[in-house]
Amino acid sequence: MKRLDIFGLLKKDMAHIEQELFRSIEGDHELLNETSMHLLKAGGKRLRPVFVLMGGKFGHYDLEKLKHVAVPLELIHMASLVHDDVIDDADTRRGQLTVKSRWDNRIAMYTGDYIYARALQLATELPNPQIHQILSKAMVEMSIGEMEQIRDFFNIEQSVRRYLLRIRRKTALLIAISCQLGAVAAEADRKVGQLLYRYGYNVGMAFQIQDDLLDLCGTEKQIGKPPGSDMRQGNITLPVIYALQDEKVRVPLIQEIKRIHELNGECDVSAAVNMIKASRGISQAENLGSRYIQKALYALNELPDNRTKKNLKDIAHFVTKRSY
Ligand code: IPE
Ligand code: IPE
Ligand code: MG
Ligand code: MG
Ligand code: MG
Repeated sequence: MKRLDIFGLLKKDMAHIEQELFRSIEGDHELLNETSMHLLKAGGKRLRPVFVLMGGKFGHYDLEKLKHVAVPLELIHMASLVHDDVIDDADTRRGQLTVKSRWDNRIAMYTGDYIYARALQLATELPNPQIHQILSKAMVEMSIGEMEQIRDFFNIEQSVRRYLLRIRRKTALLIAISCQLGAVAAEADRKVGQLLYRYGYNVGMAFQIQDDLLDLCGTEKQIGKPPGSDMRQGNITLPVIYALQDEKVRVPLIQEIKRIHELNGECDVSAAVNMIKASRGISQAENLGSRYIQKALYALNELPDNRTKKNLKDIAHFVTKRSY
């Protein structure tokens, strides 16, 4: 899976973070090494550590300090993905087999726990208790977000508001704090941290909306897993909620979702996916994603003009155009 390639400025430092990521999960237990390395080696965009380093650019940039935030944040993200693939019963991620599929659910459970523990271990190097509070709060929220999602599987009556609350927890908050904590660790002005948090929160909301759109409209090569996975799993995402409001497809779409539910997702979901694609759902979700990006860009206005600010703008634009 591709890394982000728009960070010439951070290339060298990100290569160092990459090494540290590998070092951070290397331990004495052979199987845990193998299972946790498996996902790390598969790549990924490394968006969260990139945001940490960028946040650091607004204060006293010190890679040795920032890595104690950047590496744990990517590890927390990775651990959540190992668990997420259990919940979503997903066989592929980043173009490779998931841990739960290559091994099994039990192994995935403890691989996730192990990666979380490694994140904690590294973060102990940070003396600032505020950072620990922010990190642990985000982890609590992520658990609630994923739990709420399980509760809402196949719930066709859920509101847009409910969806937004869920993705705020499961995705946007971790991205928000990635932006904020770089600034906090680099002892930037408090106001800068707050603005970066606001930027990251809005980028994170758009990021998950785009992830949900890609699950319907992307190709397997682009997204590293078969499209329609959310539909199969009963995860009712924003384009689906909007499609259900579209009189043109509402009734047949409900029937199709009920059929998928009855068959436990073990069926062809392309009819449902095609109905959603033919509805207003896609463009309405795209529009809401763009509105979050506008808010993210707005939060940047008050930050000092520098090269990092320009890069943050580029990432915001990348988020709604991305195909991976
Ligand atoms: C996937 O995140 C999970 C979501 C929050 C949508 P990413 O799209 O950042 O995953 P990787 O790290 O690049 O694989
Ligand atoms: C994001 O949701 C998962 C987490 C925040 C843990 P998804 O379930 O949509 O993520 P992908 O699509 O599997 O990467
Ligand atoms: Mg998933
Ligand atoms: Mg999920
Ligand atoms: Mg997804």
